[in-house]
Amino acid sequence: MTARSIRKAIILAGGHGNRLFPATRALSKQLLNVHDKPMIYYPLSVLMNMDVRDIQIIVNASDAENFRRLLGDGGQIGLNITYRSEEEPRGIANAFIIGKDFIGSESVALILGDNVFCGISVLETASTQFSGGATTFGVRVNDAGEYGVAEIGAGGRVLSIEEKPQNPKSNIAVTGLYLYDANVVEIAASLKPSARGELEITDVNRAYLDRGQLHLHLLGGDTTWFDTGTAESMARAGNYIASLEKSTGHKVGCLEEIAYNRGFITEREFRELADLMPTCEYRDYLLRRL
Ligand code: DAU
Repeated sequence: MTARSIRKAIILAGGHGNRLFPATRALSKQLLNVHDKPMIYYPLSVLMNMDVRDIQIIVNASDAENFRRLLGDGGQIGLNITYRSEEEPRGIANAFIIGKDFIGSESVALILGDNVFCGISVLETASTQFSGGATTFGVRVNDAGEYGVAEIGAGGRVLSIEEKPQNPKSNIAVTGLYLYDANVVEIAASLKPSARGELEITDVNRAYLDRGQLHLHLLGGDTTWFDTGTAESMARAGNYIASLEKSTGHKVGCLEEIAYNRGFITEREFRELADLMPTCEYRDYLLRRL
């Protein structure tokens, strides 16, 4: 496989957002702001930094128009974005059933629309080195039972993976970014719903583990990860990003800037994007980049 083996990605941005009710009565969680930009900017920026430009976003039917208004077809930032609606939240692995035609016979990344990563060079490296099977990313946390949990042995080999276990075998949470070869489509199609009635991403990962093809990169101190599924974690992520942006003078997850820096758009196109915005701090920031 070539260094560019991941060229497609799915962002899963549907779900009920129950834990953020009542804010999610009128708007999808992934459109709510985390500090100074909509939540979905962060996972989208991770994909752009991995050089992935062909992206399918799975959304709630009722919010499809809002996502389109925000991101369009992605052409303005050098991307090709398509949308698919999820009729019911059937579980994370359902993304590969909905995305079957989009994936075709290629490898694919999946990122959850509420996952925020800061300091992502490891992710970029792992995606360019991807050579098949499944790659996941782990972070040490204090509340592992809230997540998928991986147990690792000698040489970083994954020994087991469990979804929200009552007695976690380790403190390593599996984050919401996954890289898979095209077999993921057939694996997802063969899954049965779990006890809570969902097609579990952890069951996809366990299928790869059983084939001896599940890899886990443990993210170190240079990467900070948030699952912004609750009001409290959204606030923590927002505060972290606000203070990082203030101290470095650089925005996290600024799509226009990433598109420009990576050569997805020209300087003229970048300036046009800034010119189209109303006077605001975000526009001032873009103009200062030139
Ligand atoms: O964030 C990492 C964790 O994400 C992993 O450690 C877990 O293994 C994984 O199951 C998942 O756990 P969560 O409890 O955080 O998943 P949640 O139900 O919150 O869904 C994550 C995102 O995916 C959220 O933005 C909503 C979206 N989603 C979820 C489901 C189940 C959908 O769009 N459709 C769905 O059917």
